[in-house]
Amino acid sequence: MSEHNSQQALNYSQENKDDFLNELFDLLRIPSVSADPKFSKDVHEAAKFIKQKLIDAGVDKAEICETAGYPIVYGEKIIDENLPTVLVYGHYDVQPADPYELWDSPPFEPVIKNDRIYARGACDDKGQFYMHVKAFEAMAKTGSLQCNVKFMIEGEEEVGSNNLEIFVNENKEKLKNDVVLISDTSMISMDTPSITAGLRGLSYVEVEVTGPNRDLHSGTYGGAVANPINVLCDMISSLKDENGHITIPGFYDKVEEYSQEYRDTLNKAPFNEEDYKKELDIDAVFGEKGYTTIERIGIRPTLDVNGIWGGYIGEGAKTVLPSKAHAKISMRLVPNQESDEITQLFVDHFNNIAPDYVKVKVTPHHGGESAVVSTDSPAFRAAEKAFKDGWDKKPLPTRDGGSIPIVALFEKKLKSDVLLMGFGLDKDAIHSPNESYGVENFFKGIDTIIRFHGHFAKAE
Ligand code: BES
Ligand code: MN
Ligand code: MN
Repeated sequence: MSEHNSQQALNYSQENKDDFLNELFDLLRIPSVSADPKFSKDVHEAAKFIKQKLIDAGVDKAEICETAGYPIVYGEKIIDENLPTVLVYGHYDVQPADPYELWDSPPFEPVIKNDRIYARGACDDKGQFYMHVKAFEAMAKTGSLQCNVKFMIEGEEEVGSNNLEIFVNENKEKLKNDVVLISDTSMISMDTPSITAGLRGLSYVEVEVTGPNRDLHSGTYGGAVANPINVLCDMISSLKDENGHITIPGFYDKVEEYSQEYRDTLNKAPFNEEDYKKELDIDAVFGEKGYTTIERIGIRPTLDVNGIWGGYIGEGAKTVLPSKAHAKISMRLVPNQESDEITQLFVDHFNNIAPDYVKVKVTPHHGGESAVVSTDSPAFRAAEKAFKDGWDKKPLPTRDGGSIPIVALFEKKLKSDVLLMGFGLDKDAIHSPNESYGVENFFKGIDTIIRFHGHFAKAE
């Protein structure tokens, strides 16, 4: 019965491919950049667009839930209280598109080239959450929904989801579910589908190093007064030793060491280092000694400078010894490391290592906790079957290096099972210029979601 039901929805999605793509393009044209207030109108516009699309797709109720920041779009269709409920989470905000000059085509004018959709948000996360809207439409319009469906699509994921946390705390009953289904991660490759079983957490700080009270002539003062940029570079480079190990005292105290057996399982995922290097145009990989690339990304914490600035960066040469230097630094965290605690360790350490000829100021930004997702839940098993149907392969469980802070919150506050069924690929270049998403990923994703609903309805 349910096989038959899914088939009707699958046919519908097959027959409406062009419309699905055109609508996604309309959404991609809205520059909903949450980090930059300049786009505030557009972010609100995207929320309205999605509300309308949910209504068109067949939800019984859709609303724009205002928050202290950008709104959350909520929608639901409850067909039978006794059936399982799938809560779809996604985000309609996108990363800034800068630097624009590195894009081959404008970031908010989507185009298809070589069967890939190019636009900011094509994969992260518009292309991915929109698959759920269309999978839902296919099931709703063919009368083949087999689970209750709720949508919660937010507009502040890329800036820390602060208001979503409040929304979740205040709406526990409304958000009640049997699984939170998220497509906002990647898989190994088109030949090797995978399901994400863990995500890293995040601590993020901005540092300011101040030397003299004003910019100085670098001849008159150079060599006699510390240059804050030089000092900042020294301080940053001391944060990791020659083995790629982070030197902040206490940083590794809670890091879980995994069994060789678990590490072996992770490393079974096909990974070709030569292809990896070629794709990135690098001659060698680098990371913490004693771990493979897969482990460095999935189960080890790390620290990176995301941006660094100060002094003169205009045309030509200006001889100046700057008064200030700045950097933005992120730390990716693994299970048991707590974001606030690690941030505090950083703050203390950075102040401790500051030489007395500079002053330092550390400002924490948003962070988030890591998450581990059960590979032994009804949802995970239903997803395995869904992939098996559509890809003819059992998906491998993987650990992703990125962060979706809200996942830990769903687990903690809603006591929900979470399923990270992402269809992105590393080459999608999320957050980078020329972000893209495979047309095939979009449609195969829709089909896999439809099949998931069928299996989850029958799941034990
Ligand atoms: N979708 C990504 C997270 C991601 C990407 C997870 C690829 C796994 C694989 C998400 O939109 C994101 O960018 N998250 C931020 C964290 C947030 C607090 C800004 C991140 O990971 O940097
Ligand atoms: Mn995302
Ligand atoms: Mn992102």
